[in-house]
Formats: sequence, C-alpha cells, structure tokens
Amino acid sequence: MKEKIIIGNWKMNKTNDEAIALIEEIKALEYDKKGIQAVVCPPLTSVFSVGESIKGTDIELGAQNLCFQDQGAFTGEVSSDMLKALGVKYVIVGHSERREYYRESDEIVSKKFHKALEEGLIPILCVGETLREREINEQKEKVEKQLSAVFELEIDKKSEFIIAYEPIWAIGTGRTASKEDAQSMCEFIRNKTLEILGEDISKNVKIIYGGSVKPSNVKELMECKNIEGALVGGASLNAKDFIALLNYKESL
Ligand code: PGA
Repeated sequence: MKEKIIIGNWKMNKTNDEAIALIEEIKALEYDKKGIQAVVCPPLTSVFSVGESIKGTDIELGAQNLCFQDQGAFTGEVSSDMLKALGVKYVIVGHSERREYYRESDEIVSKKFHKALEEGLIPILCVGETLREREINEQKEKVEKQLSAVFELEIDKKSEFIIAYEPIWAIGTGRTASKEDAQSMCEFIRNKTLEILGEDISKNVKIIYGGSVKPSNVKELMECKNIEGALVGGASLNAKDFIALLNYKESL
C-alpha cells in the first residue's frame, strides 16, 4: 500500500478537450510514484477520455458520483457498471456540494456508499461540519452522525474505502483547517471507525483531509500522523500545482 493518496476532484470544470490537455500535462511531469497514489476524478463527460489517456500510467481513475440503482429509468444518472466499464476504481460519495445543492441526505449517501462497495468500487465518503457547527463546537457530533448513517448497514470485512474529512467552510474558500484541527478530526474518525467497525475493516480504511489544500500547505497537513492523503478541488485543476501536491515531500 502506498504511503499517501492524493485525489483531484475536478468538479464541473473542463470540457473534454481541456480535460485531455490537463491530464496530458500531468502525465508529462515527474512525481514520487512509489510513495504517492495519484487519482483524478474528471467530470463524467471526460471519464472515458481521461481513462484512455492514463492507461499504463500510475494514475488511477475516479468518478464524482454514482446512482444507487442498477439500471433503468433514472434520467441523468450513472450506474456503477457504466463507471466500471470505463476503468473507474474510486467514486466520491456524500460531497458537501451534493448534500447541500442536490439535497442528498445521509440515507441517500449511505445507499450510494454501500452500492459502490457492493460493486467493487472504492467509495470516497466525504464528511464535515459547517462553520456554524464548528463555532458552537458541534463538529464531532456532526461527523459522528454522518459516519453512523453509513456504518449502520453491515460492511464486508474485505471492503476498502476512504473517508475524507472536509470542513465545509474550508472548501473552495482558501481557508484551510489548521493542521491541529485537521489532525484531531481525522484521529476522531479513525477511532470511531475502529470502535464501530472493528480492526479488520478499519485497517483497510484511509482517512484523508480536503478543503483548500494547496502547494503551500500540503506538507504540514500530510505530515500529520492520522492524515493519509488529500482530496483536492481547485489546486487539482492546474497541472503544476497538482504535481507540487504529489511532490509535497520536496517542498520547504
Ligand atoms: P478545494 O475543494 O480544494 O477547492 O477546497 C476540495 C473539495 O471539494 O474536495
């Protein structure tokens, strides 16, 4: 298993041509392939072409969403089979933007998470509190509630998944959680996962941080004991910045 995982979430950015140009630029740059797993999650319209472009490289493919149904009359949705057929390995579920703008409840997020696991995809489950919740010191209750909703259903012992702690107030705002706060919440998530799911499952879970991760702060975050990677939006849209994240060990 690689030391850290760094996942680029391109969100609703890049036309297909732009996505191809970005991945080609990333591929041309050097990074520590032994220690770091790089993953890109392009928009759906470019999952195929980016997937083709990274074949034979160390970069892996993720998607930003999936439907919890198998197939049928679900206009606008995408199934796990469709994603897997394109070589997708990871899928983001429960991103705060989907929870907030598309009303994805804890129940829907849980269905998506379990569907992904059932289908052999690695879900990247996002959890995190609002600014208001942090101000009144309810961040841990919020995250625990989000985790419990997903952990309520049985999880197979061989399952592999990722939990991304993403404080909502840090996403796309340029305001990053302090390394102490990020570390403390990731440790809390680790302990809860262990307590609820046990050692067998917990050892296959990676806990990562997301929210305004950039070349200037990535190193201090990645050096925290319980932070095993990053979920990155803005800085993953620029090849040099993304590569700087993958090469964080070299930064000052
Ligand atoms: P950001 O986004 O890096 O632009 O803050 C992170 C995310 O939404 O995963």
